[in-house]
Amino acid sequence: MTLWGGRFSTSMDSTVWDLSESYSFDHVLYAYDITCSKAHVQGLVAAGLLSDDEGALLLSTLDQIEAEFDRGTFVRHPTDEDIHMAIERRATELAGDVGAKIHTARSRNDQVATTLRLFTRDALTQIARLCLELVDALVDLGERNHEAYLPGYTHLQRAQPVLLTHHLSAHAWALLRDVDRLLDARDRMNVSPLGAGALAGTSLPIEPSVAADILGFDAPFANSMDAVSDRDFVAETLFAGALVGVHLSRMGEELVLWTSAEFNFATLGEAFTTGSSMLPQKKNSDVAELARAKSGRLVGNLTGLLVTLKGLPLSYNRDLQEDKEPLFDSVRQVTLVLAAMTGAYRSLTFNADVARTAADDQFLVAIDIAEKLVEGGVPFRQAHERVGRLVGEAVANGVPFAEVVLSDPAYGSFAELFGPGAALERRRSPGASGPVAAMNQASRLDAARQAASSRL
Ligand code: ARG
Repeated sequence: MTLWGGRFSTSMDSTVWDLSESYSFDHVLYAYDITCSKAHVQGLVAAGLLSDDEGALLLSTLDQIEAEFDRGTFVRHPTDEDIHMAIERRATELAGDVGAKIHTARSRNDQVATTLRLFTRDALTQIARLCLELVDALVDLGERNHEAYLPGYTHLQRAQPVLLTHHLSAHAWALLRDVDRLLDARDRMNVSPLGAGALAGTSLPIEPSVAADILGFDAPFANSMDAVSDRDFVAETLFAGALVGVHLSRMGEELVLWTSAEFNFATLGEAFTTGSSMLPQKKNSDVAELARAKSGRLVGNLTGLLVTLKGLPLSYNRDLQEDKEPLFDSVRQVTLVLAAMTGAYRSLTFNADVARTAADDQFLVAIDIAEKLVEGGVPFRQAHERVGRLVGEAVANGVPFAEVVLSDPAYGSFAELFGPGAALERRRSPGASGPVAAMNQASRLDAARQAASSRL
């Protein structure tokens, strides 16, 4: 017998059951449903719809049910369609007629929306925390190699030298924006739908702010139809998670490149690599590859939900049950990748000699020669043209660039530009890649990190 048994004389077809049951994936919400149900019970007591004794009995019954789930002894009944029905059914088994009062002035529509918000609020906090741990790992890696530098690339062609800390901080800034985005989403979703009922509220004298306060929401809903049909918070979480995933995929791709023999800029700790079942010499950066790959499914989850939501008439529709699997999957996948990538960066040895040799490529000084000409009053476009010709000559004749430049008396005083690290040292403009600018950036990054962390 289902909870709506009164209206029906025929039992549900098994194909419909298989299609529509959600307990198999929403049982993970049990603790959030119980928290939500306890707040609802307190709201019913405050409204005089339950006596104090009835309320106390229901609260202890809910505690008992939670303990059953925690211990793994909760037994699903064949009619438990979802976690909400399972808990109500068990509460009625344990508390009899008082249990049968728990769903007073409540629908699964406002219940599921509230429960899912509680889950999402925690998930957003957790993902933001993991992003900050990854930021810390990046900052620590930079500090362990504070003098290291490497070529900075555009179009994956060597462009200009950059400090390793500068390079890693670029990823850290993206992650700090992610933290802000996740926590902005959390602030926006912190509104309680409980009390909206099926869609139109209730004739019973409940005060939704009672449960909203208990659950730590900033406010109760203003519109009952919006309350039960709004899944913006799921979409925003999937988007924020997908963008974290996109950032992680870029970092993953970079680690794949860095750890290849061709680059050899970095070596991952053994615990963060895998071997090959056939080729004995292989040491693969699978963590980085999976970080690169997972973004596909994170974007897919976002896209899937948006398409599900598109065109839905007000208010609750069963389509909305399709919000959970993408949400749970994205939260889990982002969590897994963040944790593994943090470990991978902590295990990473930066091969500073190799990176330095690559960054001391003489052609990376070309812009410095042009800018030195500019300091002497040459218009930049002409300076670019002159240096471009010197580059062309060096390439055409297979002669080192420095030799071509310094053999021309006009550039006699430019020799110091070719000294190791000289081009890096010259990158002093605010936010630039050299050591002087790096100090200023480090303090800004630290302040942003503190500010983000204080929002957790
Ligand atoms: N399992 C459902 C969901 O996740 C709960 C709400 C069902 N409401 C309904 N009217 N059938 O959306």
